[in-house]
Amino acid sequence: MYAKPNLVIEPLYDRWYAWAHLISPATAAMNVVGRHLKIMNSYIQSPQIHAAAVLNPKMLGGPFMDYKRSRVEDVKKLKNETVLKQDDLIRFAEAVFQLDNMLRAYAKGYSLEDLYPKVPDILKGYVELVYDLNNNPSFRFFESLLYKSEFYKKSSQSIALWETNNDERPFCLSTARLDEPNVLHVNIPFDHPGIEALGKIKRTPGSIDEIATMLSIKDADRKLFNSFFSQEEPQTYKKYDGPNVRMRYFGHACILIETKDISILVDPLISYYGYHSSVAHFSDIDIPDVIDYVLITHNHQDHILFETLLPLRHRIKNIIVPRTTSGALQDPNLKLAFNHAGFTNVREIDEMEEIKFHNCVITGIPFTGEHSDLNVHTKSCYHFAVDRFTFLFVADSRILEAKLYKHIHGIIGDVDVIFLGMECDGAPLSWLYGPLLTQELPRDKDHSRRLAGSNFEKGIHLIDIFHPNEAYVYAMGQEPWLEFISTVKYTDESNPIIQSNLLVTECINRGIIAERLFGEKEILYKYEGVHA
Ligand SMILES: [Fe+2]
Repeated sequence: MYAKPNLVIEPLYDRWYAWAHLISPATAAMNVVGRHLKIMNSYIQSPQIHAAAVLNPKMLGGPFMDYKRSRVEDVKKLKNETVLKQDDLIRFAEAVFQLDNMLRAYAKGYSLEDLYPKVPDILKGYVELVYDLNNNPSFRFFESLLYKSEFYKKSSQSIALWETNNDERPFCLSTARLDEPNVLHVNIPFDHPGIEALGKIKRTPGSIDEIATMLSIKDADRKLFNSFFSQEEPQTYKKYDGPNVRMRYFGHACILIETKDISILVDPLISYYGYHSSVAHFSDIDIPDVIDYVLITHNHQDHILFETLLPLRHRIKNIIVPRTTSGALQDPNLKLAFNHAGFTNVREIDEMEEIKFHNCVITGIPFTGEHSDLNVHTKSCYHFAVDRFTFLFVADSRILEAKLYKHIHGIIGDVDVIFLGMECDGAPLSWLYGPLLTQELPRDKDHSRRLAGSNFEKGIHLIDIFHPNEAYVYAMGQEPWLEFISTVKYTDESNPIIQSNLLVTECINRGIIAERLFGEKEILYKYEGVHA
């Protein structure tokens, strides 16, 4: 038997879509309190406001639960379970507020040593108090210790199994997954080998009984569980064995580069197949049996999808993440998060650090902006050279100061192909980082600090500096299968569309091949950098 190609293996945390901030203990605590409980309380109080808001396109991506019918009783139940189960994490989050208040009250530039007794008990031994050079007080977590403590809640992790038949899914940061007759919840942590077994049986036939035993599926759930499998042989992946470099765009920021010898996959976000979709796309069947390197650009929910990554875990030889050492609440350590999600092959990369293999070099490139001016180190663009042929993946980096990339050009030189995200409006700071704030940010400041990528004026610097032969706008969140995570719906009048049209037109006027990618794209390149 095979698992059906449209079987979704959805990682959840307290029944909420498990994005990276729900793995790291400190950010999980803040999101349980500042996002999940807040949204659930609001829904319980006025479900009709939520029901109306999710029908309003202007409210897309807002903090509203999106259910087909009233689920007040179920949400009350989930809230009560959360309050009971997460008692310590709730107290942890309260302590973070107290710690910040204490530092604001007492840390006035004198030694911080005397303030350690004032650190809330629950945080004692998990934080170091620091100033920056201008006497602004702050603290850092010993994050690796938090993972070893009761605050790393493996018991909150689970997976939901269900078949998808269309691309419609409620916005994942605002809607918890409640019980549904067609959804099977399996209470296993993310490092459980059963997830790999489910990933494997999508391609290689196996025994349902064995997997059911591995996942401890109850007898009463076997009928539903069995329905996720079929004898129908899936389409087979044909390994690329041509003489060229093959680039395939999978949607959003997900790009696969293959030669006959190597494969790298950037920001994996793989859609399903086996159901009708209005947009042609590559999917799981187009992913190689072995992926040499997965590259992660930054810690946003649309660039790290454990839903894609966990079932691929056994096929990934190396996973590269941007390094952080800060211990700052807003900048959780990705290596730790991946290690705890069962990845044993994680390597951190620094700015301008090179990783060489076969005839390839991966270089970490500075990534600026798109993080609301928060001090976040965990972000990297990537330069990828296969032989003499070069790609630059800029992801959502906003070119704040062109000179930075001039310095980089002085080191890496011109590139053949650039991929640039141009989601240039972006959400305000509070949309993603709000639960981490311990003081409310005034609305005008919040709206000035956005999660915005480059517009035309910023993006064109890259073209001027790196002289690419080809430039592709990507990571626009437009494909229907990722609306649940990006909540983007553009029209021709939307600024990111106008700005990226300007860039594409300008490139074409300069004789550069350019396009805004959507759905799927495949290009074969000769090693000399021209189309095969
Ligand atoms: Fe981003």
